[in-house]
Amino acid sequence: MRISGCWQILLIMNFSDDRINYLDHAATTPMRTEVFEKMVPYFTQKFGNPSSLYSLAGEARYGVDEAREQVAFVLNSRENEIVFTGSGSESNNTAIKGLAAGREVHGGHIITTAIEHHALIHPVEQLEKLGYEATYVGVDNTGRVDPEEFASAVRPDTFLASVMLVNNEIGTIQAVREIAGLTREYAMSCNADVLIHTDAVQAAGKISLDVDELDVDMMSLSGHKIYGPKGVGVLFVRRGIVLEPLISGGGQERQRRSGTENVASIVGLGEALVLSESERLSNRSKMQRMSDRLVNGIVEKIPDAVIDDKRLYHVPEIINVAFRGVEGESILLGLDFKGIAASSGSACSSASLEPSHVLLALGQEPELAVGSVRFSLGRDTTDEDITDVLEALPAVVKQLRMFPSSKD
Ligand SMILES: Cc1ncc(COP(=O)(O)O)c(C=O)c1O
Repeated sequence: MRISGCWQILLIMNFSDDRINYLDHAATTPMRTEVFEKMVPYFTQKFGNPSSLYSLAGEARYGVDEAREQVAFVLNSRENEIVFTGSGSESNNTAIKGLAAGREVHGGHIITTAIEHHALIHPVEQLEKLGYEATYVGVDNTGRVDPEEFASAVRPDTFLASVMLVNNEIGTIQAVREIAGLTREYAMSCNADVLIHTDAVQAAGKISLDVDELDVDMMSLSGHKIYGPKGVGVLFVRRGIVLEPLISGGGQERQRRSGTENVASIVGLGEALVLSESERLSNRSKMQRMSDRLVNGIVEKIPDAVIDDKRLYHVPEIINVAFRGVEGESILLGLDFKGIAASSGSACSSASLEPSHVLLALGQEPELAVGSVRFSLGRDTTDEDITDVLEALPAVVKQLRMFPSSKD
């Protein structure tokens, strides 16, 4: 019997109890109670416009200023180098398009990687349509960029190099400091003026965000990946860099991002970032232990599971595994029936499954890439949650393999 893609799973009729085993923290995170509580007064009592002059407005302004101090503290930057935006996507767009538009010359060359988030790749592609050029440096089969290969792509007209710190689908950590250092050396040798940007949206709370240690000129962050609010982001912009704002108007954020500040969310982001950073090191061993259990358990229990089990340069929180002969979307639905929330790298549309550009860049065949599932652990994940996945997943995959997809 042949049954179409995503609907294979309707055959799995094992409904779970109500508790959700949430293993999709790379997609978004639940807001921390402390963060929520800190935000609430800014909706109802301290609701003034930070640009106004009376004391009510001063309270709102104080909230934004304090959040800016908190972010600057975690990034080891100056407060006036922090720009609050509407999302991680907006931060990336501002870094790329804002830098391009702020230059005196039109056109030029950008270096980035083949595994960046679409919030980085798509703005670069938009610039390509306007006549800019881009090099997308590939990765090895573990998802790592070769720093030498990246840096050697520098040309005299290169003005921006952007490399993500942690990949959202596979969890690989890039050697950003080494990449930045080598890129600057190559730039010097060909008289290019290259700025280094990193998308650190998935790195916050997992890796140090010290912008001097990382040797970067711009960095993007997002509130909702760190147990803070959605719809707020940060762009760190090193002093002296000229950026044309994407949104112009009242000149807020030192002319870099107009629009009345989203005060409550900015306050929430500042608090969430400080809390994530303060827990970062103490969470490490627990995350690593749970991650190892999940990876080893999958390898032991499920034949033909394709996973990078060495994971030398990965954050423990993000685990990607592909299963031959099944589609990731079907596995997700099967897990959902069992109360487990995870995600896949492919998008299920009515007619086709598009394999993820990240998995293709690792060299995975498209048929395998569509069988991939991402588990992303968070601060609320427990050993029992891992045990539940290791019980549910083998059964889901086994059942799906008994009913091949109509596209096989
Ligand atoms: C690596 C990376 N960059 C950028 C973004 C976009 O962030 P936001 O959802 O705040 O626009 C995401 C979101 O998934 C991400 O994972």
